[in-house]
Amino acid sequence: MSERIRILSGIRPTGRFHLGNYLGAAKNWVDLQSQYECFYFVADYHALTTEPDGHKVEDKVFDLAADLLAVGIDPSRSVVYQQSKVPEIAELNLLLSMVTPLSWVQRTPTFKEMAKKHPENVNLGLLSYPVLQGADIVIVKGVGVPVGKDQLAHLELIREVVRKFNRTYSPIFPEPRALLTESPLIRGTDGKQRMSKTVGNVIGVTEAPEVVRKQVMSMVTDVKRPRMEQPGHPRTCNVCAYYKLFFDDWEHYWELCRKAKIGCGEKKRLLAERMVEAFRPFREARAELSPELVTRILDEGSEKARTVARATMAEVRQAVGLPTLR
Ligand code: TRP
Repeated sequence: MSERIRILSGIRPTGRFHLGNYLGAAKNWVDLQSQYECFYFVADYHALTTEPDGHKVEDKVFDLAADLLAVGIDPSRSVVYQQSKVPEIAELNLLLSMVTPLSWVQRTPTFKEMAKKHPENVNLGLLSYPVLQGADIVIVKGVGVPVGKDQLAHLELIREVVRKFNRTYSPIFPEPRALLTESPLIRGTDGKQRMSKTVGNVIGVTEAPEVVRKQVMSMVTDVKRPRMEQPGHPRTCNVCAYYKLFFDDWEHYWELCRKAKIGCGEKKRLLAERMVEAFRPFREARAELSPELVTRILDEGSEKARTVARATMAEVRQAVGLPTLR
């Protein structure tokens, strides 16, 4: 068994991978591989809380897994798997739910938001979403959980549930900690909201150059600069914010913009070309991944995760007072 600290994180298969996913999560996951023993998975059970038809999620699972591999998640160093291929997680979810007071999950901010947004589909799975997330983590006895700020409330709840479980039965689980991802907040092409598939303001990472160009060219630019002859406002312009991420000499471009020597359209064209170039290795790696290879990697990773999960469940069943499975 490895002596490195075990960490784990998951991502819901809600569509193609975008720059927000990359900078906000995957890039960090890739970097953590050199230090930790990593478990990374596609959270397809979690996707069912909002899309109950698993058939509609299938392709997205594949796309997301392929994208993660393409940007540098390395199956020879990390366990890469599909949540639903480890059904022990669902059993642990059930057992954790028995020690989770209803009031704890009812006060979860993400639940309240989702319930408001989709009043037609407030299901029990949605309510226990963070408990399932807790099962994901403790089934492999994950200690660190790389997540963004939006997940901190879930992690707090999960820690309470784990403490309660350990107190009620026996101290089987380590209390997981969040490893906060310090990432720049990436506003989408609308220049307003965080990049998100549902908002529809995304820029792809592994997609064809034409797609990336089109998305970049659709970016909302400096609204206080209706004509090119007027000086720009790089501090508030979203396109200029991206320059900071993609150009070492971004200050030069900011200055040109302030002096009205470069227009918004031209800035976007340059940015698009820079991104297309920066993403080239990802795109090429993605093109080389055959569906068979991705499926094999997910199958093998899921089998590894399952071996760990089975061992945990044997302990859990014994602690709770359920029969030993043979
Ligand atoms: N809830 C996470 C998100 O929406 C995804 C997720 C599911 C997850 N299970 C997890 C993250 C376990 C970390 C650990 O982004």
